[in-house]
Amino acid sequence: MTEWTPDARELADLELLLSGAYAPLTGFLTAAEADGVVEQGRLPDGTPWPDPITIALPDGIQPGDQVTLKDPEGAAVAVMTVVERDGHHAAGPVEPLDAPAYGPFARLRRTPEDVRKELPDGEVLAVTMRGPLDSAALEDVAATAEELDASVLLMPLVFGESGPSVVRAALTAAGRLPGSTVVAVPLAPREDVEIDLELREHVARNYGATEHFAGPAPVTIPGPPHRRGLVVFFTGLSGSGKSTVARGLRDALLERGGRTVTYLDGDVVRRLLSAGLTFSREDRDLNIRRIGFVAAEVARHGGLAICAPIAPYAATREEVRAMVEDVGADFLLVHVATPLEECERRDRKGLYAKARAGLIPEFTGVSDPYEEPDDADLVLDTTGMSVERAVGAVLTLVTSGGWVR
Ligand code: ADX
Repeated sequence: MTEWTPDARELADLELLLSGAYAPLTGFLTAAEADGVVEQGRLPDGTPWPDPITIALPDGIQPGDQVTLKDPEGAAVAVMTVVERDGHHAAGPVEPLDAPAYGPFARLRRTPEDVRKELPDGEVLAVTMRGPLDSAALEDVAATAEELDASVLLMPLVFGESGPSVVRAALTAAGRLPGSTVVAVPLAPREDVEIDLELREHVARNYGATEHFAGPAPVTIPGPPHRRGLVVFFTGLSGSGKSTVARGLRDALLERGGRTVTYLDGDVVRRLLSAGLTFSREDRDLNIRRIGFVAAEVARHGGLAICAPIAPYAATREEVRAMVEDVGADFLLVHVATPLEECERRDRKGLYAKARAGLIPEFTGVSDPYEEPDDADLVLDTTGMSVERAVGAVLTLVTSGGWVR
């Protein structure tokens, strides 16, 4: 049997399919179903449904296959029976495997069936929340519940980093709404506000709601940049001056003080974190993902990470940017664009000569590709440029954005 780990959003949808929160859906939609939803807001049998719930599976998985869907920590969550394949998307019903529930507030992630059993008879006012309820909203909810003679079901929508704080907000609200019930629901936000609202309503109804109140959108204050995590990611050919500028940046930041700095140099990483990896595309990608993983962890806690690998592939650099932004931190790409001729002329490590002589296969710039970034925040050609000036340019970028004071 094939195994696959869906992304965070697909896993959230999967949990809702399995729990019955997405009823009448029991699996990921076929192309025809998804088209109907997008074009008419309905499933082929006419049932209203607001959002195409789909999953991407790797090539090679065919109709008739059974796929074990796992979470990132390796727990087998469900088995999907693939009935259709359309490009990357696959469709088919999902069956739960009894994976242990974990994660913050796992005990509050209950099924609709469970919750409906517990709710008192009569009207139920569901409040879906993505942030705290201020006192005006709380009063609104209390007044509406009283008017309708309804019990209150608080539904913190938990997805991503903010999940636990939304549940805490719901528990606080529950303390001020006697008799209310709290259930955590892993519903990822939809970009389209209308669709998001409709989906919240569908899910609330499945939990037994007769009325729905959409809690106010969270006021996200990302915090001042000098307290936010930052990754400064240098990319460029071997010998372009990446390490020199990156080290200069590290030293300058440490001299100024005010931020903790982690430096992930390409060569240093390859001696420990990525020891044993080759320079094949696969291994280079893995190397960059490892660097991205560590940098994102540093940035998650508000630290500043400086990375300086070649990172020749645009898609992999993009992945790292996404990993960093996913934890609420910022990402700056610095392209050290010193031309190949200059890198080769310097040939500090003598590697270009060896590569030209055919002694090092797959050498970046000589016999292996380097995809020039088109999304760099700063481009530096270090030809004829002093180290101080190059470092100064990066420092200006970092200070002008407010990341360093
Ligand atoms: S990356 O492609 O995976 O980002 P990384 O920055 O870790 O590369 O390592 C690059 C360093 O490894 C170069 O500076 C050079 O010293 C050395 N090296 C050894 N073999 C190669 C190769 N085939 N291509 C590029 N660099 C190589």
